[in-house]
Amino acid sequence: MLESIAKSRSLEALEALRVAYLGRKGRVTEQLKGVGALPTAERAAAGKAANELRIVVEAALAEREMVVREAEVKRTLATPFDVTAPGIVPLLGHRHPVSVVLDELVDLFWQMGYQVADGPEVETEWYNFEALLVGKDHPARDMQDTFYLSEAHLPRTHTSSVQIRHMEAHRDKLPIRIIAPGKVYRNEDEDARHSWSFYQLEGLVVDEGVTLGDLKGTLEQMMKGILGNDTKVRLRSNYFPYTEPSVEMDATCAICSGSGMLGDVSCHLCSGSGWLELGGAGMVHPQVLRNVGIDPDRYSGFAFGFGPERLAAIKYGVDDVREFWRPNFRFLEQF
Ligand code: PHE
Repeated sequence: MLESIAKSRSLEALEALRVAYLGRKGRVTEQLKGVGALPTAERAAAGKAANELRIVVEAALAEREMVVREAEVKRTLATPFDVTAPGIVPLLGHRHPVSVVLDELVDLFWQMGYQVADGPEVETEWYNFEALLVGKDHPARDMQDTFYLSEAHLPRTHTSSVQIRHMEAHRDKLPIRIIAPGKVYRNEDEDARHSWSFYQLEGLVVDEGVTLGDLKGTLEQMMKGILGNDTKVRLRSNYFPYTEPSVEMDATCAICSGSGMLGDVSCHLCSGSGWLELGGAGMVHPQVLRNVGIDPDRYSGFAFGFGPERLAAIKYGVDDVREFWRPNFRFLEQF
């Protein structure tokens, strides 16, 4: 036994020997078990001998293990190390394309003197609807199909709720000049241009003498900043209960530069119209100002809201907004 131990060259071989000698059915173990079957007179001597054998084998195994381990370390250290072998390139993440656009927007508005405001994603009907003149039976509630969490609470359907919260808190500290980026939720079927949850960027300015012209200039400045200096903005009349007048904002198409044509085919992004719908806006309704305790005879304001995902899709030529929220690295790594 001692000879086999002394000759073994690997930890695996040593382990096999330990099992063969000291394991439950090992040779030494069997010998120890056999002591009980001997005549009484022989037991003491045989027991002592078997025990001594166990101690010697254990010691030999332990000693050999040290030698084998040491040899293994020497062998590893002697293996030449190839300093020219290519390393493992660490995977680096980057900002999400929608975050990039959101950050750019915050930067642009920051330069125009705006501050960033925030509001809760779960709202009451008052902030999401009623203070914005969307009563219980108002048809505009159908424009934004709502998920309800309880009778009184809902995930906000737009960031316009932040307008109300901010005006309430700052009615004594006018003027107000804020943007409020955040997530909104709508009970809508998904398709390439719609999703049940998406981002909005709300804007609100309240001061003396604010006009529709100020709104248009602001939107122009912003669109040029994001989509390029040649971008033009067009306002079309629209309807929102909380703005009067209300407008829809369009920007010239970022792909065909407003011509509607790409070579001699019509542009796929704007379907040949040359314009892209970006969001809603308008002059804050006097009754909304009254609802939050601001005097509409002295102050006026404008507000706007649009979707940064749509802006990112236009900027990067993405034709399906759902891609932004799929765990698809092949898509996301392009940015
Ligand atoms: N809240 C509107 C929407 O979600 C957009 C909007 C914001 C319109 C501000 C007017 C003023 O479609």
